[in-house]
Amino acid sequence: MSSIKVTGGVRLKGETRIQGSKNAALPVIAASLLNKGVTVLRNCPKILDVYHMINVLEELGCKASWEGNSLVIDTADVKSAKVSESSVRKMRSSILFLGALIGRCHEVSIAYPGGCSIGNRPIDFHLDSIRKMNVSLNEENGIINCQTDKITGTDIFLKFPSVGATQNIILAAVLAEGITRIYNAAREPEVQELCTYLEGAGARLKGKGTSFIEIEGVERLHDVEHTLSPDRIAAGTYMAAVAAAGGDAVLFDVPVHQAEAVIKVLEKTGCKIITGDRHVKISRSKRLLPYDLLKTKPYPGFPTDMQSQLMTVLSIADGKSTIVEEIFDSRFQNAEELRKMGADILLRNEKTAVITGVAKLKGAEVKARDLRAGAAMVIAGLAAEGETTVNDAVIIERGYEDICRDLGNLGANIHYCGDDAG
Ligand code: UD1
Repeated sequence: MSSIKVTGGVRLKGETRIQGSKNAALPVIAASLLNKGVTVLRNCPKILDVYHMINVLEELGCKASWEGNSLVIDTADVKSAKVSESSVRKMRSSILFLGALIGRCHEVSIAYPGGCSIGNRPIDFHLDSIRKMNVSLNEENGIINCQTDKITGTDIFLKFPSVGATQNIILAAVLAEGITRIYNAAREPEVQELCTYLEGAGARLKGKGTSFIEIEGVERLHDVEHTLSPDRIAAGTYMAAVAAAGGDAVLFDVPVHQAEAVIKVLEKTGCKIITGDRHVKISRSKRLLPYDLLKTKPYPGFPTDMQSQLMTVLSIADGKSTIVEEIFDSRFQNAEELRKMGADILLRNEKTAVITGVAKLKGAEVKARDLRAGAAMVIAGLAAEGETTVNDAVIIERGYEDICRDLGNLGANIHYCGDDAG
């Protein structure tokens, strides 16, 4: 297992550039199946989750190649509509192949994703919605088999604005007969970006970015080139790094509007932030202030994917903060890791953490519990006295092209070590 070693206590200073968006790339890669031809995806991040999506496409019979940071996908030939159990277990986003393959092949066999390290993540909204679109579904030994002679548009009301379910419905609806209406759709930028990509390929959609999306099925899509937005969570992670370690940095290629909720919270903790069209200048010199009550919410609220990073930041603030995780159960595993570094965190229940800031964290050997939790431990290492080793750090590469490169650009003393070191 790879590790990341960080020597803390260095104020960050310098410039770094934000990679393309992971959470936008994954659904768009699945969506490329709907066009029997070529998708060119520019600014595609070279991360493990993208490589995994490419592997699944190749298992299905498609071709993919890189030209710099452009991913060229050719989906002219699809030889199978089966997504293996190991693929879905490896990465939950593989479930997006459900909507894409039913749209493309009118059949799909895909394993049921289990729970994961950030809690129970059911897919009932996905399955109920697909079923409503004239698709028959049966589950056998953890495998979901779906079939239809014709997908038909319908009205779908989501009990919760689920990102994955909204994306799967859109994927199934693009080539359906008739109109699909999604009420209480997710408004996340990654849903909007999927719509923009599909529109570029000839799909007919209305209402992207709102909670009501209407999709009018078309007969076919055509070849398309699409440039992915920069990653709002990577940008937020590096802003949190400057907040925790202190210093003065400029981040380029930031989707500033998408990062507003995170920027507002960091400003309240005492960071100075100046935003441009596509860049953010952030500095922090005095001790961080606590944040009374931080709740994760669907977009445009504070993102669950930034919760762990803010837990690190608030663990060295001057006072008591409370975080309420409203999206997932069990997304507080990092509390235990941060405690190893001297943080004072009390879990009142599965969804509420009370953090009493300490003056300093101390370097320790810790573990990356999940992608964002791992990044949050790297940030803790930057803020701590002495050396921190973050074990199982390969999980961080699922979402960050090169966290050591990016934070190294800001003067951090950080490097990979161990078997899988990059
Ligand atoms: C979620 C996040 C997304 C983030 C991603 C990776 C939200 C709203 N979604 O997307 O921003 O990038 O994780 O960390 O912040 N649910 C059901 N049944 C379903 C689907 C979802 O009950 O069929 C529930 C989940 O248990 C969860 C909530 O709805 O409590 C949100 O899930 P959803 O948005 O679908 O999760 P992801 O698509 O993984």
